[in-house]
Amino acid sequence: MVQGSANLNTEVTEEWLQEYVDGWVKFFKKQTSDGELANYIPILGEADPEALGISIIGKNGTTIKSGNTEEKFTIQSISKVLTFIVACMERGLTYVLDRVDVEPTGEAFNSIMHLEMKQPNKPFNPMVNSGAITVSSMLDGNSSDQKLETLFILMEKMIGHRPEINVEAYESERDTSMKNRAIGYYLLEGDYLESDLSITLETYFKQSAIEITIDDLARIGLVLSNDGFDPVTEEEIIPRSITRLAKALMLTCGMYDASGKFAAYVGVPAKSGVSGGILAVVPPRVRDEELPFLEGCGIGVYGPALDKQGNSIGGIKLLRHVANHWDLSLF
Ligand code: DON
Repeated sequence: MVQGSANLNTEVTEEWLQEYVDGWVKFFKKQTSDGELANYIPILGEADPEALGISIIGKNGTTIKSGNTEEKFTIQSISKVLTFIVACMERGLTYVLDRVDVEPTGEAFNSIMHLEMKQPNKPFNPMVNSGAITVSSMLDGNSSDQKLETLFILMEKMIGHRPEINVEAYESERDTSMKNRAIGYYLLEGDYLESDLSITLETYFKQSAIEITIDDLARIGLVLSNDGFDPVTEEEIIPRSITRLAKALMLTCGMYDASGKFAAYVGVPAKSGVSGGILAVVPPRVRDEELPFLEGCGIGVYGPALDKQGNSIGGIKLLRHVANHWDLSLF
């Protein structure tokens, strides 16, 4: 039995929420043993498989954190949401969507199948590797560092400090990622890349190796929840039209071939990464009863033991539990 799982029916206080979340994290930490680390990127195999942490930030500043809250980890596929946003801001939605579709694949994140079987072989969506590599090629600049500069500026606005690339993680992936190179060649053949393949892949590997914490993810989630406007700094960081599309893509494609189940059982836009991070966005919702974070919140989760689809096994269970108990679903 999960500790503290009774229905919420009295006034919501921060101390009370904290007590609930502490109990849930403790419970789901035990279930991380059913998952496996992402050994295919050698450095990710060195993480603590039992780690599990969550950070939640509400629009009014309410913050609940529990478990392994201090770890830095690489952003991996969660960067796909942010580079998509940057490409749309730099090039415009029409330009980007002419080159990457917005359809879920139902396949693994690094699948090559559609690129081979469909003609024209336009990548299905920017949340899977083929689409994200295409998006990386579209970023402004002639080198990977120039291409990532706008991403760094955008992230700094959202999380309050300039993030850094974990060079060891970058090199670990660059030196082993043959499948992404193969995807790159298919994209090159289909004429989808806007810059040189080696610069494109360098950009993609570097963006994947940006280091973040669950607090950073929660802050990013909060901005997305609030349609691109940061309630902390009171600045519009991302245009609303782009934020809405990013959230739709997260909901339909963000958890790869588990996106349908995540939408059904958790019901909020989310994006995972193979380092074990999950970014979840809880939009404001209207309910008759008093519930936590009715005005919306951002959630960051870290749990490096993964399920078969490459999503944090403890993180998904924890999010599902929180969403059920606090009625966070959009639906
Ligand atoms: O391209 C890769 O394989 C990694 N840089 C990112 C994959 C990833 O995070 C998939 N997520 N669950």
